[in-house]
Amino acid sequence: MASLWGGRFEKEMDSLVKDFNASIFFDQRMFEEDIDGSVAHVTMLGKQGIVTEEEADQIIKGLEKIREKIRSGEIVFTVDDEDIHMGIESRLIEEIGDVGKKLHTARSRNDQCQVDARLYLKKEIRNILNRLIYLEEVILDKAEKYADSLTVGFTHIQHAQPITIGFVFMAYFQMFKRDIQRLQDTYDRMNLNPLGACALAGTTLNTDRHLTSELLGFAGPTENAMDSVSDRDYSLEFLSDASISMMHLSRWAEEFVWWNSSEFSYIAIDDSYCTGSSIMPQKKNPDMAELLRGKVGRVYGDLMQLLTVMKGTPLAYNKDFQEDKESLFDAIDTWKASIQIFANMLEKTEFRVDEIQKQFAKGFLNATDIAEHFAKQGIPFREAHSIVGRMVKKCEINGCDFEDLTEEELQEIDSRVTKDSLGDISMKACVDARMSFGGTAPAEVRRQIKVGREWLESVDL
Ligand code: ARG
Repeated sequence: MASLWGGRFEKEMDSLVKDFNASIFFDQRMFEEDIDGSVAHVTMLGKQGIVTEEEADQIIKGLEKIREKIRSGEIVFTVDDEDIHMGIESRLIEEIGDVGKKLHTARSRNDQCQVDARLYLKKEIRNILNRLIYLEEVILDKAEKYADSLTVGFTHIQHAQPITIGFVFMAYFQMFKRDIQRLQDTYDRMNLNPLGACALAGTTLNTDRHLTSELLGFAGPTENAMDSVSDRDYSLEFLSDASISMMHLSRWAEEFVWWNSSEFSYIAIDDSYCTGSSIMPQKKNPDMAELLRGKVGRVYGDLMQLLTVMKGTPLAYNKDFQEDKESLFDAIDTWKASIQIFANMLEKTEFRVDEIQKQFAKGFLNATDIAEHFAKQGIPFREAHSIVGRMVKKCEINGCDFEDLTEEELQEIDSRVTKDSLGDISMKACVDARMSFGGTAPAEVRRQIKVGREWLESVDL
């Protein structure tokens, strides 16, 4: 089959070259957007008198027929189609005859592939935002449920301070909130229409790029034709948004793996989100959490691939840029599925609050709280820190807790310290008192949940 661009060629493409050159096998997933772009383009050509209104109508009807045939599976693309743009255009010409040849006036595949990719990515960003919002709702509900439930706060994977489970949830809430905001920023910045930039320098025909922008739902046309066909920074922004968010998911997934281990036993992941072993009958493995952790590697790879493709490429379009799609699609698919799986797993996960309590005896979780009691009594914090440090040492030698130190032992450590001066150092009292803005006290976490809910409801898609 002769290609639509075959006029100046005397030989057919080598069959290896055909395969190597084709993007149809991956870019056909943008067929809806390609047709939407063409409909808007030819509507504009008709309004501007570049083609007649009747010709525009005929072409639009033809395009809609092609859309139906692709949807129903009647059209199956092959390597001869080369890419989705020519695949659709050649079917259109087959369908409606010579008038179809007018569609490609005042545009190029260089702007066409960009309008397709931007429309496609905008649609998928909205899907991803919806999923992130669902994840945030699950987090808020769980944070509320566990607002009073105590757990161990770690630094360096060492017992640090008592906190609430709700507080942990709200920490992740903030990360995904920023992921949502980052994605919204990316969306707003990329929401400009490259259609009509043509090959690189615009056209001599009297086109109206503002009209096609309006018809396609873009905020306006891109400013510079050459830039429009030759940068992929919007995809790179998306890929870095995806990488950051996948990194957040992987951190929580990692915690899930730990919490689910027999050493921790903090959580019970629902059976439907675990798998078994083919040899060890007792096993219930947290495979989804592990896979989520692993999937991040793909998305980082996608980002690095496109950064590398773009590096050092001169203006304007280069065929290298065709390599922008598979990594973008892979990141979209991976991120989307990962958010959904994680949100569902989270929803089905219960915390074993009684098991968690058993850990409170280890690690002197309330040490900082005692030092703060002393500071409130006028002892400079540096001295208070050192006193509690010596108390810890004593407890370690005795094999006991702060509460077990005798009056004499305390006095020996520092004359200002008595049993009474320790105050209420139960885990609950320590947590309840951490009322500083952003702190872990249940009342403060409830404030964070309230603000979080208000923000989530205000998110505009
Ligand atoms: N399939 C190409 C891509 O995705 C479309 C643009 C091709 N343009 C060209 N002049 N060869 O980048």
